[in-house]
Amino acid sequence: MLSLVTCTAPVNIATIKYWGKRDEKLILPLNDSLSGTLHQDDLKTTTTAMASESFTEDALWLNGKKEDINTTRYQNVLKTIRSRATKLMDKKHCVHICSVNNFPTAAGLASSASGYACLVYVLAQLYGVEGDVSAIARIGSGSACRSVYGGFVKWVMGEHADGSDSLAVQVAPETHWPEMNIIVLVVNDKKKETSSTNGMQLSAQTSPMMKERCATIVPQRMKDIEAAIQARDFQTFGDITMKDSDDFHAVCATTQPPIHYLNETSRYIIDLVHKFNTAAGSIKCAYTFDAGPNACIYLPADNVIEVLALFVKHFPTSDLAAYYRGDAANVEKIANYQPPTNTQSLYSTPSAATQELAGSLKYILHTKIGPGPCVLSESESLIDPSTGLPKVVAADPSAINN
Ligand code: DP6
Repeated sequence: MLSLVTCTAPVNIATIKYWGKRDEKLILPLNDSLSGTLHQDDLKTTTTAMASESFTEDALWLNGKKEDINTTRYQNVLKTIRSRATKLMDKKHCVHICSVNNFPTAAGLASSASGYACLVYVLAQLYGVEGDVSAIARIGSGSACRSVYGGFVKWVMGEHADGSDSLAVQVAPETHWPEMNIIVLVVNDKKKETSSTNGMQLSAQTSPMMKERCATIVPQRMKDIEAAIQARDFQTFGDITMKDSDDFHAVCATTQPPIHYLNETSRYIIDLVHKFNTAAGSIKCAYTFDAGPNACIYLPADNVIEVLALFVKHFPTSDLAAYYRGDAANVEKIANYQPPTNTQSLYSTPSAATQELAGSLKYILHTKIGPGPCVLSESESLIDPSTGLPKVVAADPSAINN
């Protein structure tokens, strides 16, 4: 029997942010959180895991480079998977794992969520782990538990000290709200950020905003946003999403020492979205920012062209076809877009502020809500079964052209 499995897993972008742990080791959060799962056509991690009696040690390759598998988080994941195994239990099999992202790590898009979700999902197939695996993904990286499902997913914080009830639950599948699109504005930034893990620990210890956020603000927002998703009510969804992003960054700013994930470009985008929504008379699009300056914009399909045209106007490019990474058929529509009178002034000649920010976006990625992890066929394996080592795969041109 060949013990080799390959899976893919998606990235997720939280609309209600997870920020702060009540247990650092088990990765138990201080609040519930909720996210949209992004489509794997555009962003995904692919991972192959192979078990063999001939392997002398567990080994891991990430994006072609051998990594240390002996970190606490990898070891906790492996130990938990093996303790729940219904296959490969009789002998001491070691495992080789090979994982790649189809998006450039240099883009600063969070890869830990899709990475750990994929690792856990593939190992669960290999070892025959039954039932929910989100709690195992959680001990790799908190936000990874939400990448175990497609559509809209909540991470219920749970109450038990052992974390047994701190799980991801699907709120709605990807088919429920197919009009929901996401635009990622990838911001050029060289600054090394405070990691989420360190940042949230500092915030939990020092930000005076944390208590109320966890006790009352997030529980109410969770109820409201879940209802908005069920009703496909974008006005409420967008309003809550932006407020929670703003509050999360205010928590960071009131942390000691203060943490600043947003930069000048991020703040410009926040102001622009508000001006645009006000001029339009409704919430056309909603931003959210994680632990970095990139903007994720949630928006209904009907608003995609006008919103893309707006961003392209404010962050111009000489090569739209390379700058905009989405449906090629949209390029011409974006270039030729004629705004209605109410929002027209926002599309006029770039201001001095815009000129100062010229070149501050790397590119614009356009995707939608998508499904959860998938199992691929043996032919798509990243490991050569005859050697147990990573296959030499031709570099993905989109992954180096960043
Ligand atoms: C801002 O899941 O990366 O993206 O559990 O320590 O690995 P660890 O942290 P991580 O934190 C993600 C924080 C966030 C918000 C979110 O995704 O909910």
